[in-house]
Amino acid sequence: MSHNKLVLTAETVPHVALDFMNATHFEELERVRTLGELISGYKQSKNDNDRLSEALNKWIEHTQAHFARENELMIDIQFPMYPMHSGEHNRVLEEMERMVASWNKTYDIALLSDYVFTAWPQWFEQHVNSMDMVTAQFAVMHGYEQD
Ligand SMILES: [Fe+2]
Ligand SMILES: [Fe+2]
Repeated sequence: MSHNKLVLTAETVPHVALDFMNATHFEELERVRTLGELISGYKQSKNDNDRLSEALNKWIEHTQAHFARENELMIDIQFPMYPMHSGEHNRVLEEMERMVASWNKTYDIALLSDYVFTAWPQWFEQHVNSMDMVTAQFAVMHGYEQD
């Protein structure tokens, strides 16, 4: 599985108009990079399973905080597309939680690999490039000050 490579990095992910959002996105990609390394080096041992489960939990925690902070921002700035953007956060968080629950039960590395190397990065790039981009732009245009 070592032929798998993540092409989405801090250099290639779209950048938005608010630095704190970019910083969170880079952190998230760093966690996904760690997951990618664990998947590439996976040798079907209990130790490997446990390390992946732990890294997946940290990823979910980071995503929860990431989405919660963006949701707060949208409420602060009265972003008109809040229901759509926060709804997308909920949908993907549930999808990730289902993925992790299934991993913890079946240890299906092919399924996990497909999600981490393909499905999630595609979603993430598209999400940052659309909803996050528009949200950050709206915030800046309406005088939002970063702390
Ligand atoms: Fe985001
Ligand atoms: Fe978002």
